[in-house]
Amino acid sequence: MLNEMPMDLPDADDDASGANGEILHIYTLLLVEATQQLRDVASMDILRNEVFELKQHLLDPDSHFQGVAETDETTPFPPDYLCDELDQISASQSLERARYYIERFLKSITEVRTNAVNDINLNSWKKYDDIYTDSLWVIDRRDSSGVHTAGYWGNFIPQIPSQMIRRYTKHGDWVIDTFAGSGTTLIEAQRWGRHSIGVELQPNIADHARALIAAEPNEDGVTSDIVNGDCTTINYPKLLEQYQQSSAQLVIMHPPYFDIIKFSDDARDLSNASSVEHFLAMIGQAVDNVTTVLDPKRYLVIVIGDKYVKGEWIPLGFQTMNEIVQRGFLLKSIVVKNFETTTGKRHQRELWKYRALVGGFYVFKHEYIFVFQKRP
Ligand SMILES: C[S@@+](CC[C@H](N)C(=O)[O-])C[C@H]1O[C@@H](n2cnc3c(N)ncnc32)[C@H](O)[C@@H]1O
Repeated sequence: MLNEMPMDLPDADDDASGANGEILHIYTLLLVEATQQLRDVASMDILRNEVFELKQHLLDPDSHFQGVAETDETTPFPPDYLCDELDQISASQSLERARYYIERFLKSITEVRTNAVNDINLNSWKKYDDIYTDSLWVIDRRDSSGVHTAGYWGNFIPQIPSQMIRRYTKHGDWVIDTFAGSGTTLIEAQRWGRHSIGVELQPNIADHARALIAAEPNEDGVTSDIVNGDCTTINYPKLLEQYQQSSAQLVIMHPPYFDIIKFSDDARDLSNASSVEHFLAMIGQAVDNVTTVLDPKRYLVIVIGDKYVKGEWIPLGFQTMNEIVQRGFLLKSIVVKNFETTTGKRHQRELWKYRALVGGFYVFKHEYIFVFQKRP
């Protein structure tokens, strides 16, 4: 059946960790002093020598520049970032240009400049090479670190909420996930020090999510609560009141992709909508209901894929996008993300290829992440 294509099946190699590469913890004051001294150098030749030596010291684990862990006195640096910054100074054609790069590097160490919706330090934006800014995401491994698991059929990869939380919230902000499922968003919110509330229709799934979240470290002591209920009707103002809040700063929605996976027998479950039109109406209700508590200028993100019925591609993604645009939201981005089916199902893949060739269609390999901003 064509409309039974899976959303995000676990891959055989799904056990890869999402850990970043090596990070150097450099004593900030020492680095600032050493960089300031570069400003007074009299010629490019001397400057290049000094930079070369500084680079050697910074990268040497036994040098006095390096601490062993993150503390208030150290700044974390990916080694590549440090090298790129210093190489740029060395590669300058004139002392004037080199001094410009030195000042810029100093500023990135000593000053923090963020925008209104996140904590990304724009003075050291090059450090954030793990934050995606392209609209095409090809991710071959899901993050399975900590309590993350691909066990709940239809859960999304943790990289999705992680990226969204880092781009669109600040530390201590509140995130609402209207279709919480196994709690992937809440686990990520907890990791990044954001409060979160998830709404999930099925009581047993809500319990499962609670158990996962409880097993995840909570270093910032944030609230991460799963509420059992229907996101199209739940009273969000009343819910937030329980936490002495009146609004949230990010909404993440990962609804059923209509009936591709039937999640329950509950008529309020979007996977039981009677038609595409009914599904879109339910999405509209879910959006309207949560919009009341989203702060102006803040973001709403919806993750959804398309479906196939009797030889016809149903563009659920774009239809859903239109529902939200019609409600006055500003469309900021359409991200296309790949998904892979499990390598254990090679025969099934071959069957799909055969069916695609016979039927004149293409096999789904992508889903959408629509990013909206609530207008002021
Ligand atoms: C695609 S899954 C979300 C998976 C989630 N992102 C995760 O990583 O586990 C959709 C979830 O929405 C739930 N659901 C369906 N209709 C709902 C409704 N009206 N209110 C709240 N949850 C609903 C389903 O039970 C299912 O767990």
